[in-house]
Amino acid sequence: MTYAHITGWGMAVPEKVLTNDEISKMVDTNDEWIRSRTGIAERHIAAEDESSATLAADAALRALEVANLKASDLDLVIVSSSSPEHIFPATASIVQDTIGATNAGAFDLSAACTGFIFATNMAAQAIRSGSIKNVLVIGTETLSRFVDWTDRNTCILFGDGAGAFVLQADEEPGGVLSAVMHSDGSGADLLTIPAGGSKQPATAKTVNDGLHFIKMEGKGVFRFATRVMARATKETLEEAGLTTDDLDLVIPHQANTRIIEAAARGLKMPMDKFVVNLDRYGNTSTASIPIATVEAFESGRLKAGDKVVFVGFGGGLTWGALAAEWSGPLSAEKKVHHGRYLFLARIRSVLLRALRVVEGLLWGDYGRKRKL
Ligand code: ACO
Repeated sequence: MTYAHITGWGMAVPEKVLTNDEISKMVDTNDEWIRSRTGIAERHIAAEDESSATLAADAALRALEVANLKASDLDLVIVSSSSPEHIFPATASIVQDTIGATNAGAFDLSAACTGFIFATNMAAQAIRSGSIKNVLVIGTETLSRFVDWTDRNTCILFGDGAGAFVLQADEEPGGVLSAVMHSDGSGADLLTIPAGGSKQPATAKTVNDGLHFIKMEGKGVFRFATRVMARATKETLEEAGLTTDDLDLVIPHQANTRIIEAAARGLKMPMDKFVVNLDRYGNTSTASIPIATVEAFESGRLKAGDKVVFVGFGGGLTWGALAAEWSGPLSAEKKVHHGRYLFLARIRSVLLRALRVVEGLLWGDYGRKRKL
């Protein structure tokens, strides 16, 4: 029998940090309100030469390094994002080219903040079916480009960043154990970017009316989130034949500390079993779970053999959970050494980014001036 193991992980966040105090100079808010209502203290914001694809590629290369896998060994690249580079081509295609995943198919998946769970489940299913062996799953966002920086209801919440997992086939039991995926489109209006798609294409009026920015009915999303997080966790545990007592760690979507606390109460679990890092990153949407995972591993909270549940919710509405036995990189004898190859892949990524900057300077469509 084939199992889908998570053998690589990586994250990338922009260098620029935006604090609550800085936001309070832009809109009528303050650090105390934001911290007490959300738990967020600061977030990272992409620079002009960064985008969802560049962050994704950086996170991907780190995940490949941990897995000790060549990009050319990947069979599939799935990118989850609500802030893709374009309507098309897929951000996954750009990442596939940047990292040199020359033998992989690549596509985007759109399920808002739950996207990383859906994408990891799709990757695991494909591996377990026996049709492919190595999959790269990336969650990446530059939602700062879609935030209305005059709207205090939304601009305090979001941050930019990317996280990636490598999933690999192996005969040893473990890896992804179960997953549940849910959607309820009747709540689609609660969280949306109304214009820019085929329903309401971009016009001068849609731009003037601010319809290309995120619109959110915060209270409705909050109520929905507190309902579904514990429920989805229980469902996936049951499917895996586990209980909350078996769980070493829960890695939830990082939207609001109060939502995570509600999930802990619903599961009757202590908060110290939950990874929370939204104070430093804000809500990075689909990137939040892999970013929190990388930090949990690097701080020693997540170890090989641990039973972990990833659980999230988001626009759509969507929600889901995935249970896994944390594998760590595959054993040494299964690894292929390719340090020189990874060095070359990094050089290639830097050169491609420099090329984009030069192209932009020459043709004038590079970046946007944002008032941050
Ligand atoms: N600073 C100060 N006051 C504010 C701010 C702010 N930044 N934002 C809102 N307020 C005010 C409101 O205007 C309101 O004032 P009023 O009573 O005079 O009208 C008051 O504070 C209370 O506002 P609420 O919206 O009721 O505040 P609430 O406690 O619900 O917190 C929040 C708002 C933080 C947005 C919360 O509802 C929330 O976290 N919702 C979930 C959002 C979420 O997780 N979204 C992401 C989903 S994932 C994805 O798919 C991207």
